[in-house]
This record gives sequence, C-alpha cells and structure tokens, in this order.
Amino acid sequence: MSKKFYITTPIYYVNARPHIGHAYTTIACDTIARRQRMMGFDTYFLTGTDEHGQKIQRAAQAADKTPQQLTDEVSAQFRALWDRLGLKYNDFIRTTSDRHKLGVQALWRRIRDNGFIYKGHYTGQYCVFDELYVDAIGPGAPCPECGRPTETVQEENYFFKLSAFEQKLLQLYAEQPDFIRPETRRNEVASFVRSGLRDLSISRSTFSWGIPVPDDPKHVIYVWLDALANYITALGYGTLDSKLFDKYWPADLQMIGKEIVRFHCVYWPAFLMAAGLPLPKGIMAHGWLLFEENKMSKSRGNIVRADTILEVLGRDALRYFLLREIVFGQDGSFSFDALVQRYNADLANGLGNLASRTLTMITRYFRGEVPYPSHTAAHTAADDAIADTARRTISEFHIFFEQYQFSRALETAWGLVAAVDKYIVENEPWALGEKQDESSRARLATVLYTSAEALRIVSALAHPVIPDSTAKIWAQLGLGDIQKFDLAQLQWGQLKLGTKLGDVHAVFPRADKSAITRMQKLEEEGREAPAATEAGPVAATVSASQGTLATQAAASVSPAPTSDGKISIEDFAKVELRVGEVKVAEKVKGADKLLRLEVDLGTEMRQVVAGIAEAYAPESLVGRKVVIVANLAPRKLRGLDSNGMIVAASPDGGKPVLCGFLEDVPVGTRLK
Ligand code: ME8
Ligand code: MG
Repeated sequence: MSKKFYITTPIYYVNARPHIGHAYTTIACDTIARRQRMMGFDTYFLTGTDEHGQKIQRAAQAADKTPQQLTDEVSAQFRALWDRLGLKYNDFIRTTSDRHKLGVQALWRRIRDNGFIYKGHYTGQYCVFDELYVDAIGPGAPCPECGRPTETVQEENYFFKLSAFEQKLLQLYAEQPDFIRPETRRNEVASFVRSGLRDLSISRSTFSWGIPVPDDPKHVIYVWLDALANYITALGYGTLDSKLFDKYWPADLQMIGKEIVRFHCVYWPAFLMAAGLPLPKGIMAHGWLLFEENKMSKSRGNIVRADTILEVLGRDALRYFLLREIVFGQDGSFSFDALVQRYNADLANGLGNLASRTLTMITRYFRGEVPYPSHTAAHTAADDAIADTARRTISEFHIFFEQYQFSRALETAWGLVAAVDKYIVENEPWALGEKQDESSRARLATVLYTSAEALRIVSALAHPVIPDSTAKIWAQLGLGDIQKFDLAQLQWGQLKLGTKLGDVHAVFPRADKSAITRMQKLEEEGREAPAATEAGPVAATVSASQGTLATQAAASVSPAPTSDGKISIEDFAKVELRVGEVKVAEKVKGADKLLRLEVDLGTEMRQVVAGIAEAYAPESLVGRKVVIVANLAPRKLRGLDSNGMIVAASPDGGKPVLCGFLEDVPVGTRLK
C-alpha cells in the first residue's frame, strides 16, 4: 500500500467573507496535496469552517441573523470560493455538523476520564476577537495579542490541567524539532511554555452558541477546544465509523498562520496527550499577507478578494504569485502592480512564451511530431548544458519543495526556463528552419527536442502550483493527463520521439496596464456591495445602511487611485471630518441598533442616525464630543434623515468604539 499523507488548513471563522489571506493558506495546502498525490502518496486534504463561539454569535446578532443562518451562509461562501479556485480538498468540515459535535464530546469525555478536567471558578479577562483567555488585568484592559479591549469573565467553568503538560511539551519541542516550523516560531512557543502554563478554562456558561459539555449541558465547550478537534472529528473520531481516523491520523502536516501558533502548538498537543492520542508530525506556521503594509484582515477591512484576481488573470496567476513572490514563513506584501508584473514576466513572457515558441516551431517544421535529436555531429555542449541544468533543477526543486520553500523551488525552475530561452535565441531555430540541408535539419531537431523536453520538465514540476496551465501545456505536448504522471520518476530524456502534439494555443495572454485598474475597480465595487456577512456590529449595522468610513469615503469621493492603489492628499481632503457635540440622543423605535443623534457642528445642528445603540446608552452620549463625516450625502434610515456619519472604531466581533480626543477641542474643528 502506498504511503499516506494527511494535510489540514485551519478552519476559518465565519464572521466575515473569505479573502486572499484565507486563500493563501488553502492554496499552499492544495499545492502540497497535489504534489504529494503526484509523488504517489495516498493524500487526504481537509479544510472547513469554525462556526461556534461568542464572536460568531455576536456577528450574527449584529447582522440580524440567527447564528445558524450566518454560519450556513458564510460557510457556503468559503466552499464556493474554494471550488472556483479549483482547490481539491477531500473533505470540508463544519463545526456545527453532527459528526463534529459527537467527536468533540467523545474527546472531552476521554480527557475527563483520564483525569485532566476539573470544575473551578474563573475570574479574569477574555478577548472575544481572539477567543482567548488573557493575563490582562482589569475591565477593558487591552488584549496582549491584538490590543482590543478585553471583557471580564466571572463564572464557574471546567478547567483543563494544562499545567501538567509543561515538561512534556518542552520535551516534544526538543526531541522533534520539526514539530513546529519555522524555527523562530518554535523558539517563541518554547519560551512561552517555559515561562509557565496555567490551567485553561474550557467551558462557558454565559452564552449558548457552542457544543454542550457532556453531562452538564448548562456549559458549552470552549470554542478553541471545539475547533481544534476538527482535525480528528473530520476523520470520524468518536463516531461509529473511524476508518479514516485509523488510516490517516496523525496528520503529516498542519498548516496555520503565525497568529494561531499557541493554540496549535501548546493547547492542541496537550489536549491530544491528555486524551492519549498520537500527535501531529508537524505544524507549519506561515507569515501574513500584508496589504498596504498592514495584515490583511476582515477587521481592518483592507482585504482583497480572490474573485477579483480570478476574474482578471485567472487562478494560476494568483497561485503562482502567492507562492513565488512571498518567502513562505515570512510576511509578504500583496499589490496588484506586483501581481501583474510577476504574471507578465514569469508566466506570459517566461513559461508561456517558451511553450508557444517551441510548440509552434515543432508544428511548423516537423508536422507536429517531437523530432529526433541527433547524437552525432549536430550535438553540442550547449545541449548538454541544458540537460545538466534540467537534472539539477529537478533535484533542487524537490529539496526546496519538501522544505516548503516554494519561492526558491519556483525560482530554480524558472532558472531553467531562462536558460532555455537563451539557448533558443543563441541557436536560432527559426534560421535553421529556413535551410533544407541535412545538417541544419539535424541541428534543428536537437534544439527543438531539447527545448520541448525542458518545457515538459518545468511543467511537471510546476503542476502542483499552476495546475490549469501546465495541464494545457502537457496536453499540447501530446502527453495526455498530467495528473497521472508519476512525479517521483521525473528525469531528463523521457519525452518520446515522435510524440504527436495536441492543438497549440497560448496559455498565458499578456496582461496590460488596464488589468490593474480593472482589479482595483472590482475591489471597490465588491466593497460597496452590502456585505451580508461583514465583520463587527458597526460594519454590519452601519455598513448595511451607511457603510463604514472607509467604504463611504471610497464611494463618495471615488479617488482616482494612483498606480499602487493609494489616494492623494487632495482626495483625502475631500472627506470633511469635523468635531461635533452630541446635544440629543435617543433610541430609534423598532430598530435595536440605531440611535438618533442631534449633533452641534458649530455652524449648524445635524441629525445623524448611527448604529451604536448596543454599545452606548443614549444618555451617556449627551455632551460628548464626536467626529462626524460632515459632507456625506444624506440618506434616510427608518424614515429618518441622516445627515453625516459618526466615526467609530469597529473591532471585529466587538462593539463599536466612538472616536474622541484626550484634549478638549472646539466644536466645528476640522480634522485633516
Ligand atoms: O483563526 N495572511 O480563523 P480565521 C496570511 N478559526 N494568512 C491569513 C491572513 C493573512 N492576512 N488572514 C487569514 C481562525 N489568514 C480560527 C482557526 S483552527 C482550529 C481555528 C489565514 O478566520 C491564516 O491561515 O481568523 C490564518 O491562520 C487563518 O486564515 C485564520 O483564519
Ligand atoms: Mg483571525
């Protein structure tokens, strides 16, 4: 039986729609899974959605939906996007599914029966955004991970004896250095554990959106224990059918982003040890995709949707860019400029051009059949050099890939593309093609065979990264279905002479400058569309009606974006932000989230309707100075005129926080 390979992505929260940050992880895993399949491994690739917990419950409330409605909707969006991206996962787990609930409860019982769960009383701070118990002190203290205000939790909970695993975890990191990669993350985790582990609260009783604790349904299971268990419940752990679990667990690779290392490298192995289950072989934490220098995230709103890129450049362009441009493990920037540049340089002009030149000349000069290379007079050192480069490329590519150094692997393969390009230019097959003498024909055959063989090798190596286009090149080379190719056997010289080419056509049309503006425009349109599932309460309430500050500014000003997507100071100056003082505040009848405010702007009174009723009692606002977008087009909300927008921070899953000043500022002052 062939060797197995089990690979997982994190399961994504359903409090907002997917963006290319989520696609990044999932594409990386899909690429690894495709390669493992081509290398002959019995591969199982799992992804899914994380649907319980306070953050989701609040996002649902804010969107006026039941948690089940919200999770059904957003989970389907993730799945649909993965399908549009052509990702070949074997299973998609949802934490609201029955099979998952059964498995989580089975895991709980096993940990409990092994003596690692006890009842206690928790008083401390909790960060809903990170769904994390934190050491911060006092109500509202900032979360040490994300800086958002924490909430005080005071309840009877079940605790997990995490402290019992300190030494075992340190021993694991020391003995199995590949348990956590890259090394920087391993060092961080080890020093976190060395500084001491406290027992972990693993149940909540003050809200209900979760899996009931076995034998004590007043409590729901802590969302991270619930979520982490997906990696085994998806395989049927704790259900009657555990065939997949027996076959595939432990995971060979669990891929995550660097912000969730603690959960995966401390809590997860400790839960498994407590349950007496085998540990995953390796956890790889990659860096963040940045956009305009910040982490791309739903809470910042600086996201780029994968659909935008799919629509303009296609899915291989996105995959290639993410894996070639960013050093895997480190943070990397996304920009439309860089994307188009990479696409043109490496795909349209690089691989695409090599394919079309080589295949067109074989069609023209050899009636579409791979020609016989000559081993005699027509053979030169240049041909050998290409064969040598190709051999070296194959072995280096495998090594880099197995270390998840995708960018270096691709750089190596594209080194072969460049070498062959140069070889073609120097050997001028088009000139040889014009001559009819035997030695020119023999030389032409060798040059085109060498080029076609190099093209075949690059296509095979790159297939897991750019599956669509390499499948086309493979078919044009007359080689049939690339997925059936045994990558482990790849060698120079396997292209059979006389192979009949398929129809030849371009795989990567060149992109011009308009590709960038088209993508920017699609993003802007996407942002304006009422995002049914946008993140926090402000986004969900205000944005459904008025839009967040960022989207409104973009919509009302429509700045002419400069080539890197930035706006000019003149564009910013079009947004009139002024200090106002709230004079009247009252609830809007029949709208739980809206307040009607009368705000003094110095020169005039303004009526503004704002989605902040869940965060602020009306009476607490009277006399308070706020920031107003003064030149926003008026609109009607619940029959009331709203003339401007009140500016607030919109923490993901948390309540809006009004913008204010530490010093006193006169009413009417402009912000600029
Ligand atoms: O953390 N750059 O879900 P999540 C790179 N439900 N990767 C990014 C990214 C970015 N800008 N943004 C998101 C959760 N990701 C939990 C996980 S697992 C048992 C539970 C990717 O929706 C990256 O893989 O916040 C990151 O770890 C994950 O999405 C977080 O997704
Ligand atoms: Mg996150």
